[in-house]
Amino acid sequence: MKNPIRQWLNEYVGIPVVVLLRGWVLNRLIANTPLPWLRDAYYRRVCGIKIGKGSAIWQGAQFTGDKLNEIEIGDHCAISFNSFWVAGAAITIRDDVVTGHFVEFYTSDHDPDDPAFTRRNAPIVIEDHVWIGSRAIILKGVTVGRGAVVAAGSVVTRNVEPFTIVGGNPAKPIRKRGTTEFTYHHDGAPLFG
Ligand SMILES: CC(C)(COP(=O)(O)OP(=O)(O)OC[C@H]1O[C@@H](n2cnc3c(N)ncnc32)[C@H](O)[C@@H]1OP(=O)(O)O)[C@@H](O)C(=O)NCCC(=O)NCCS
Repeated sequence: MKNPIRQWLNEYVGIPVVVLLRGWVLNRLIANTPLPWLRDAYYRRVCGIKIGKGSAIWQGAQFTGDKLNEIEIGDHCAISFNSFWVAGAAITIRDDVVTGHFVEFYTSDHDPDDPAFTRRNAPIVIEDHVWIGSRAIILKGVTVGRGAVVAAGSVVTRNVEPFTIVGGNPAKPIRKRGTTEFTYHHDGAPLFG
């Protein structure tokens, strides 16, 4: 039989504290602090998000899902304002990735044909030197190949080939990127960003 005191503590103390930390503290307080180092420390130490050197998640990021500790961001990535992360499975962002504002990653959805509305989770991978335009949505199970570009406002439902520019809803190839060699690196967030 379960220990009733432990059960009570879990229900009335543990769960509310976790909800407070994960909900309000993470997505309201930390998200909107203009101190990038404080956000970075909270994301790394409390949420277990791995963030490489020179990379920054700018203000306004929102997180849900139970796999925040499986979010991994490589080196020199700029995740710009108001990103949205549904982490029911791993989200891997490799090196030198740049995103515009309001980019959304959804590793999870529900089976629309299942009477029980079962949750489905699949990882997302964004390879090196990808540029994701503002307000793009990346759905579960998608890999965006090295050097690809996702045009602003696109909904990416299928894998994107390397060095390919895709756009639209659902995102379709527009053309190949004009180069496969890149010299740019990003470092940190803008001042008070
Ligand atoms: C993809 C992008 C880089 C344009 O690339 P480009 O090839 O130089 O653009 P072009 O204007 O020559 O457009 C090429 C084709 O793609 C289409 N296209 C461009 N942007 C598109 C978009 N966001 N969604 C769907 N299709 C798009 C154009 O209509 C055009 O189609 P057509 O050949 O049938 O006329 C640009 O449209 C974009 O989305 N930029 C991101 C902006 C942003 O998020 N900025 C934030 C800063 S990080």
